Amino acid sequence: MATLSRLLFRTFCTSLATTTTTTTTTTTTPTMNSIVDKLFKERNLTKLAENFKKSSESYRFRCKHRIYQVTVRRLASANRLSLIEDILEAQKKYSDISTEGFAIRLISLYGESGMFDHARKLFDELPSLRCRRTVKSFNALLNACVDSKKFDHVERVFGEMPSELSVDPDVYSFNIMIRAFCEMGSLDSAVLMLDEMGKKGVEPNLISFNTLLCGFYDSARFDQCEKVWILMEKSNVKPDIRSYNAKLRGLVAVGKISEAVELVEELGSGEIKPDIHSFNALIKGFCKDGNLEEAKRVYDDLLKKDCVPIRSTFEALVPSLCENGDLDLAFKLCKDSMSRRCMLDARVLQGAVDGLVEKSKVEEAEKLVELARANSYSRSSVKMPS
Ligand SMILES: *[C@@H]1O[C@H](CO)[C@@H](O)[C@H](O)[C@H]1NC(C)=O
Repeated sequence: MATLSRLLFRTFCTSLATTTTTTTTTTTTPTMNSIVDKLFKERNLTKLAENFKKSSESYRFRCKHRIYQVTVRRLASANRLSLIEDILEAQKKYSDISTEGFAIRLISLYGESGMFDHARKLFDELPSLRCRRTVKSFNALLNACVDSKKFDHVERVFGEMPSELSVDPDVYSFNIMIRAFCEMGSLDSAVLMLDEMGKKGVEPNLISFNTLLCGFYDSARFDQCEKVWILMEKSNVKPDIRSYNAKLRGLVAVGKISEAVELVEELGSGEIKPDIHSFNALIKGFCKDGNLEEAKRVYDDLLKKDCVPIRSTFEALVPSLCENGDLDLAFKLCKDSMSRRCMLDARVLQGAVDGLVEKSKVEEAEKLVELARANSYSRSSVKMPS
């Protein structure tokens, strides 16, 4: 996790660096480029937080949403919550806080870091910080509640807030509640939200239905799923590939892989094309069944259809290939994953390294370790077995 967020950070810095150099004609000192670069290079998180606070004195820096996100994620994955508090609380002194968008950013970052109490406190302080709260910041608070898994608070916040603030919950508020109930496993309450929406004159949208489909398919309640599809049609909401992917994952989870394959084929000839997640569902299903030949076939197929494999595609395939002794393909996929900048879990790479050594393919194993090093995996996470 720590490695991943560092990598994310580097990718982000690289992209930011390119955009800054192409869009800035006159150079300000110090450039945003060098400020961001310095933040990236800082390994000491205490110093990182200090530098971040200093950098955020610049208005241009405060406009960069992504650097806030990347830095907070880095701190959160190292569990340095007091540093997160430190840098986010420091933002309150800027007049930006009176714009709801900036306040929402901070509330959401607290939520993502599991710090709901801080999110709530900031939300309560907004009027005194001259920020007018609308349903948007209310939704951010509700979302922070679900993100930090404070499920016992969700219903209370949803029930009390709107009248306290005199805001009407909108479709986003209801969708957050549907997600909350699904994550809690209270699927019946999730469906009841549709009735609540009806009473308030709020139309459910594709996200409402997709969230319900994911919830019901994940818990294999297929009869309920059918009801959701029917409601969806009645509401004139057209499914998208995410709706079908929920179904695919549901089918695969209960071992109905041939039905899943059929569905992907059907989709292939229809309007809504299968995407990488559809193929991933099949690959995972076949790998779980130990049917590696079919998994490989699906992989070839997705490449032919110009789908781009993602991290989870490789993470499903590589361990199965190693287990079944197909080290050559495992080696190739590990290399591909790194050239595509999909940062596999270090344990998956290490598994491939160990497998290669076991088969006396020491040269290949060394090559992988070398590539891992070049791609910022730490020395301890991917190494030659001793
Ligand atoms: C990180 O920086 C802080 C403040 O400058 C310092 O007190 C601390 O010892 C440093 N930590 C490490 C591990 O170098």
